[in-house]
Parts: sequence; structure tokens; C-alpha cells
Amino acid sequence: MTKSLYAIGGGQMVEAIIRASLESQAISAETTHVVDISPDRVRYLAETYHVTTSREFQPELLKNADLILLGVRPQDDWAEIARQIGSSGQKKPLISIIAGVTIEQLEDALEVADYPVARIIPNTLTDTGFGVSGAALNASANQEDIDEFLKSFGKVDYIPEEQIDIYTGYAIAGPNYVYNFFLALTNAGVLGGLSRKQANEIALENLQGAAKMLEITGKHPYELLDINNSAGGVGITAQHELDASNFAAGVQNAVLAAIHRTTELGKGE
Ligand SMILES: NC(=O)c1ccc[n+]([C@@H]2O[C@H](COP(=O)([O-])OP(=O)(O)OC[C@H]3O[C@@H](n4cnc5c(N)ncnc54)[C@H](OP(=O)(O)O)[C@@H]3O)[C@@H](O)[C@H]2O)c1
Repeated sequence: MTKSLYAIGGGQMVEAIIRASLESQAISAETTHVVDISPDRVRYLAETYHVTTSREFQPELLKNADLILLGVRPQDDWAEIARQIGSSGQKKPLISIIAGVTIEQLEDALEVADYPVARIIPNTLTDTGFGVSGAALNASANQEDIDEFLKSFGKVDYIPEEQIDIYTGYAIAGPNYVYNFFLALTNAGVLGGLSRKQANEIALENLQGAAKMLEITGKHPYELLDINNSAGGVGITAQHELDASNFAAGVQNAVLAAIHRTTELGKGE
């Protein structure tokens, strides 16, 4: 069912979510309102998506909203916005995408007992239908109220809040690791003598095909490698070089560093 959405902070991430949710008709332009302090932003969002906008929080509009999306930055005055939401007299589910701000901090700022709060870390592949967002709910929030909306911009895992930082460093930053691998691979093709265009096309095909193989066979990557790496052959020779390099540890260290940095940012460090 189409939900009416009240979004506060109309920046890059909220725009990406709104674009995907409009496309999949989880929300409609007529019943979507975006608040942003920037005059350029509200003009742009109204012109591009035909949603209604305002530069100031308008509590009376919450009456018509099914969901509230809080999309300002951690350094913005989110606590004051939450206080205004809490004092509106409405108890519409609040979905926060603010990195590092905990459910407890939001509950305190709302100053209303048993207010339904979902803290999500949204995936950034919203236009593709791929990507996994992590969602942590407080005891008052209802998964059914937000599920369709969250799934309109990717897949969603409902997780304990303690896992949000892991999702941020592993799942949300995930495309970055893949872009890096893609770049390393295409540069190898060019180094080997292919044009950039040939190298890109082949790497994209292999990337998508290999992902499909993992998905449809359900096999462990070791099993698929075993099929490809025949005795004394090309595959196992390349495997030996990869094993001798820092490849796996490099990727793993990058993910652990991203998780660690997420935790630091959450503490304001
Ligand atoms: N971008 C991502 O890939 C990503 C991924 C996951 C989570 N997030 C989270 O999403 C949130 C937004 O990130 P973003 O990259 O979209 O940032 P952004 O583009 O800077 O968007 C934030 C918007 O909120 C506006 N704003 C600030 N204070 C406001 C207020 N009191 N009332 C209404 N609007 C206000 C800002 O206006 P001004 O610019 O004029 O101040 C800006 O347009 C952050 O909390 C971030 O942690 C982002």
C-alpha cells in the first residue's frame, strides 16, 4: 500500500530513497512532503519529483503522514527536530538514517514514552534494486509498518542495533570494495594488452556471471575454484600469485577499518 511520507533533510541520501520509492510506487509524489533548510534543495526536489516541500518543520502536516524519515547529518540539530516530532502529538513511526545516532538518543530527544523508532543504515545502490539496508527497531516499532517502504529501495535485514556499525562498514561500504576489485581487474586486462573498453566489458560480464554462479549453485567459492583450477594449469598458477599477495588480507583489513571508523564516528571522534 502506498505510504505518505514526511521527510526531514532533503539531501543526497533522502533524494536517492525518494527516487527509488516513487519508482516502485511505495510512496506517491502527492503524499510526500520534504523539509529542508536549503532553498535551492527544496526548489530542486519540488521541480524534479513534484513532491511538496517546505523550509521549516510543519508539525500539522504529520497528521497526514504514515512514516517520518529523518535524513539530516549527525552534526545537524537532529535532537531539536526529534523534540518537535515528539511534541507534535502524533506518534507516526520515525525512521532515522542518521549515522551514529542511536535509538536511545532518538528516544531521549523525542521526550515521548513508547515512540516507535527504527534506526536504519540505508544501502546506496537504491536505483538498482540491489543492496541491503540494516534496520534496528525499538520495542514500540512495528516491522509491518515500515517493511514495504524499506524494501522499495533495496533489500532489508532486521538486525540488533549492535550490528549497525558492521553493516555500515561491510554492507553499505560494500560497493566500494567491488569498484576497487573491478578497477584492479580491468587494469590487469589493459596491462595484458586489451583496450580499456574490452577489459571493462569482460570484467563486467565475469563479475555478474560469477555472482550468478554463486547464487544459482549455492556452492562455496572453493568448490567453484576447484572446478576452474585444473592440475598445473592457468587458473592454479594465477591462484598461487593471488595467495602469495596481500589480496585477501587487504580486503579484510579495509572492511575492519571501515567498521572501526563507523564506531569512532558514532562516538564523535
Ligand atoms: N550519503 C550516503 O551515502 C549515506 C549513506 C548512509 C547514511 N547516510 C546518512 O544520511 C544522512 C544524510 O546524508 P547525506 O549524504 O544525504 O547528507 P546531505 O546531502 O548533506 O543532506 C542533509 C540535508 O539536510 C539539510 N538539513 C540540515 N539541517 C536541517 C534541518 N534542521 N531541517 C531540515 N533540513 C536540514 C541539509 O541542508 P544544508 O546542506 O543547507 O545544511 C542537507 O540538505 C546522514 O545522517 C548520513 O549519516 C548517508
